[in-house]
Amino acid sequence: MSNQRLQLFPLTTRVENAALTIGGCNLTELAEKYGTPLYIYDAATMDAAVQEYHHALQEHYPGASGITYAGKAFLAVAIAQWTQRHGLWVDCTGLGEMRVAEAAGVPREHILIHGVNKSPAVLAAALAQAGTIVVDNLSELRRLVELSSPDFRGLGDLGSLNTPNLWLRFRPGRAVETHAHIQTGQEDSKFGMSAAEIAGAAQVCRQQGLPLSGLHFHLGSKFDDPAPLRQAIEDTLALAKEIPLPADWTLCIGGGWGVAYHEDDLPQPPVEDYIRFAAQAVVETCRRAGMSLPRLHVEPGRSLVARAGVAIYRVGTVKRTAHRRWLLLDGGMADNPRHALYGARYSALPVERPDRPNTGPAWLAGPYCESGDVLIENLPFPDVQEGELVAVPVSGAYHLSMASNYNGATRPAVVWLENGEARLIRARET
Ligand code: LLP
Repeated sequence: MSNQRLQLFPLTTRVENAALTIGGCNLTELAEKYGTPLYIYDAATMDAAVQEYHHALQEHYPGASGITYAGKAFLAVAIAQWTQRHGLWVDCTGLGEMRVAEAAGVPREHILIHGVNKSPAVLAAALAQAGTIVVDNLSELRRLVELSSPDFRGLGDLGSLNTPNLWLRFRPGRAVETHAHIQTGQEDSKFGMSAAEIAGAAQVCRQQGLPLSGLHFHLGSKFDDPAPLRQAIEDTLALAKEIPLPADWTLCIGGGWGVAYHEDDLPQPPVEDYIRFAAQAVVETCRRAGMSLPRLHVEPGRSLVARAGVAIYRVGTVKRTAHRRWLLLDGGMADNPRHALYGARYSALPVERPDRPNTGPAWLAGPYCESGDVLIENLPFPDVQEGELVAVPVSGAYHLSMASNYNGATRPAVVWLENGEARLIRARET
């Protein structure tokens, strides 16, 4: 069991002198130095994940292609800088993420702006700072037209405007198989435009001379069956035939490819299967329709960073109730709300002697004042003592980016591990 659990951890994870190490660093020493809860990111695992995408696109898509990192999964200056070492674009939703990208020195042409209700301030900043804006709806497009008109003076100095490329977000009317909270492509979703609205938006772009250069859809997040992508790709390509787009237009198929969170989810869903499927659907549909190939963009978040991240907690109290053994940790739903929100199923290992046999089920819960503050339920686990450290794998995506200050909790420190060295990339909040 333990060995299988190790496959959920970063690629560089080892058991050395009966203790977990990642990226050549001893987790107990890191916890002592930086305190707990502590989040670590393993550079080698992130590099390997992005290489899988580059490789699969090169192998299976004969046209031009690109990758945008969905910053909502976890963005920090060091992460944004990592994206630039790999030639990625960064998807920013909102001013905060844009500021991080700016602080990291991400060049304008690599910044893409998302959002379902972008404020005038976000749109103004996007016009000034982004290479691409994904337009969600017609009201937003009207606001963009106003803001980019030369005589607009409402939001400060936009004098030297270089209008970003615009992509229109299509709502194809189908979603991937996943938790309802993270399905986005269905007909009644709040995201994107219908086919008729896309046609209207394209018309506005033409009339106003706005640089429309792409179509986008995102069917949902954390899926491992790519089948629903086919119809969405076919419908988007049919739409592309009807509207004026430049020859080198971009088709962005969103992100959402899943990862294994628990040993029962293993083996990892291969990125190559996903990219091969999508690339073939695009190539076949274009061939049938007599269209040339668009530039193909993908927009992964979770599958680039989830496995690279590990959360380290200290067990404060071991408590037994009628039917449960509780391991009460020093972190929980404030740094990882995913079990509470989506019923996400995690696994864990003790940091010291992780290969101890499991002795029975455990419930790993946090210190916060509600019964929903549980990270893991009913996980076979060894006997551990109060004061021991526990490592929760697959903690790199949508934990810290959704973390809260519930009960006055402070957000954990984040450490980057590379070549045996640990570097603090975000200080613990005070
Ligand atoms: N593109 C768009 C337009 C998106 O909305 C998202 C995710 C992505 C790409 C990246 O999806 P990914 O590859 O990371 O699955 N908090 C939830 C996930 C919310 C996803 C939101 N949008 C969770 O913890 O599972």
